Amino acid sequence: MLITFNNVTKTYDDGTTAVDNVSFTVKEGKLVALIGPSGCGKTTTMKMINKLIPLSSGTITINGNDISNENAVELRRNIGYVIQRIGLLPHMTIEENVSLVPKLKGWKKKDYEKKVDELLEMVGLDPNVYKKRYPLELSGGQQQRIGVIRALAGEPPIILMDEPFSALDPISREQLQDELKLMQKNIHKTIVFVTHDMDEALKIADEIVVMKDGKVEQIASPTELVQSPANEFVRSFIGEERVKQITNIQEVQAESIMNTYPPDGPADQLPVISYRASLQDIARMMLLQNAEAIIIADEEGNPIGYIEKNHLLKELAGIHGEVQ
Ligand SMILES: Nc1ncnc2c1ncn2[C@@H]1O[C@H](COP(=O)(O)OP(=O)(O)OP(=O)(O)O)[C@@H](O)[C@H]1O
Ligand SMILES: [Mg+2]
Repeated sequence: MLITFNNVTKTYDDGTTAVDNVSFTVKEGKLVALIGPSGCGKTTTMKMINKLIPLSSGTITINGNDISNENAVELRRNIGYVIQRIGLLPHMTIEENVSLVPKLKGWKKKDYEKKVDELLEMVGLDPNVYKKRYPLELSGGQQQRIGVIRALAGEPPIILMDEPFSALDPISREQLQDELKLMQKNIHKTIVFVTHDMDEALKIADEIVVMKDGKVEQIASPTELVQSPANEFVRSFIGEERVKQITNIQEVQAESIMNTYPPDGPADQLPVISYRASLQDIARMMLLQNAEAIIIADEEGNPIGYIEKNHLLKELAGIHGEVQ
């Protein structure tokens, strides 16, 4: 499915122009991330695709058909929708939640039952354990997985995801990003994914649309975006977001930034620290021992990598590979 925005503008009744003359294309089977600061119009853009919000001007087409000619209810059955706060129905079991759309589409019982089992297995939840449970009997990360597979259950060709993982802890978020990437390799849905998180966009998107004040600032692949930001805003947005995430340095571990063992110079005088140590622990140890580099060891204490002081400082400053 090919989604095209042609000069789309949305002005709300109070005069706020939330989306201002936006044009972009989401190609069949690709994942496009919409990213930008709060209030820049991401959610409005997304909700116009499934007609939750009417456009003020311009057109949105899906496979060449103008959606203004489509029945909204019909359209939504072919567009899966995942939101941040999940929206599972609390009085229905997981099985009932996931099979909602297939039932509306008139699937046979044995078909949707099979689908529920398949999808639960796909996200690593044992159907025998989970399908009879209620949403509140699941952890946040598990509920969010259900939110994702519920959107997939009716086999819609298009999926809209509005900050689906942002309420999760960093580890569950990473896991779900990995699962989504893996899933997308097999199912090739056309996905529009809204996020605040530049690292998330860089990790999962085929293409990134950067927005500001309702306008598109740049459309590029993750690599292009990092290598050649179109303007100062995009540059600072990439930079600031990444710096912000790095400031929580307790979460970054040695292993993720180390170089492979051995270092160029002699290693036997250097301090050793676990691969699980945070950047803060490493900085502390290097300062205490006045060391220029540190050795990273695995669980058994065998050296697996090293980090030099300059490299660590750049990581702490949020500068990645830009300064030699
Ligand atoms: N129903 C509404 N009436 C008037 N203005 C609205 C309405 N909904 C959203 N807006 C405004 O439109 C602009 C874009 O909002 P939108 O929700 O699309 O932003 P967003 O990029 O999704 O932000 P966030 O990252 O905070 O979710 C904002 O200025 C917002 O206040
Ligand atoms: Mg939003």
